Amino acid sequence: MRRDFDPQKFIDDAILKIRHEVGNQKAVVALSGGVDSSVTAELGHRALGNNLIAVFLDDGLMREGEPESVVRIFRERGLNVQLRDVREIFLNALKGIVNPEDKRKAFRATFYKVLADILKEVGAKFLLQGTIAADVVETVKGVKTQHNVLSQIGIDPIKEYGYKVIEPLSSLYKHQVRMVAEALKLPRAIVERRPFPGPGLSVRVIGEVTAERLEIVRRATKIVEEETSHISCFQAFAVLMQDKATGLSQDGGRKYGEIIVVRIVDSTDAMTAEPSRISWDILERISRRITEAIPSVTRVLYDITSKPPATIEFE
Ligand code: XMP
Repeated sequence: MRRDFDPQKFIDDAILKIRHEVGNQKAVVALSGGVDSSVTAELGHRALGNNLIAVFLDDGLMREGEPESVVRIFRERGLNVQLRDVREIFLNALKGIVNPEDKRKAFRATFYKVLADILKEVGAKFLLQGTIAADVVETVKGVKTQHNVLSQIGIDPIKEYGYKVIEPLSSLYKHQVRMVAEALKLPRAIVERRPFPGPGLSVRVIGEVTAERLEIVRRATKIVEEETSHISCFQAFAVLMQDKATGLSQDGGRKYGEIIVVRIVDSTDAMTAEPSRISWDILERISRRITEAIPSVTRVLYDITSKPPATIEFE
């Protein structure tokens, strides 16, 4: 597949297309630091210069330290980046919702509404977005509502939100996006970044998303990522279950606590995936560190399911 795809040609074409479509007007890109939105932001910057405003939405669903580090990387590259604190808006929008698809739809509606307000404020009529082929396939098939798919399922963003959406990467798969990222000379931390879902940790908290439950999964995620930083895998993360399990408290009494699932998978395009054959030592360390750092957790499980029949994320 590497031989058929010419990243440099893709970059040149994409820049011309963006320039042609946006002209001298302003555009906004929602930058999360994932490889897809990063490549889109970089292409947009090369096409439009300072007429591209990159917005990092701090929705409270990101990993620890992510907003600050992503903003720093792209400001250093000369992009016009704004960090917006929208944590309360997203937490309110997700309040009381337990059904996974309802959660995804609430996230999507809030995401585009918040962006609509920002586009209006900065006087932009275009939104650049890093939707890739797999996002479209999964949403159209009805597997799950990816937060960044609209027109492909009959939602007209101009009518609904008042702006045009441009998706330069919609024909690419993840490994091709990484090739483009490399050709754009994005830093290794971005080129090799493991995928992270648009709705962030909200799809890794089963049941209601609250600030407290987000904090549990955020701390567990950090531990899983640290302990797997040296191994090659597609994704490695933690999920907080809705059920509880019995365990022992420090004084030997009964404790009814949280269950964390650790999911580590190998994949190339996210369409299929296998559980990583991770070493027992790493799993043991992850389990020990999570239960020590988060005393409310009484059980840590390792997910050994392939995709299919499972999906990579839990929701
Ligand atoms: P699933 O869970 O469908 O995930 O096997 C496939 C890949 O997509 C990521 N994912 C998302 N990415 N918005 C995104 O941008 C989403 O709503 C979303 N849901 C899943 C997931 O992390 C995996 O890499």
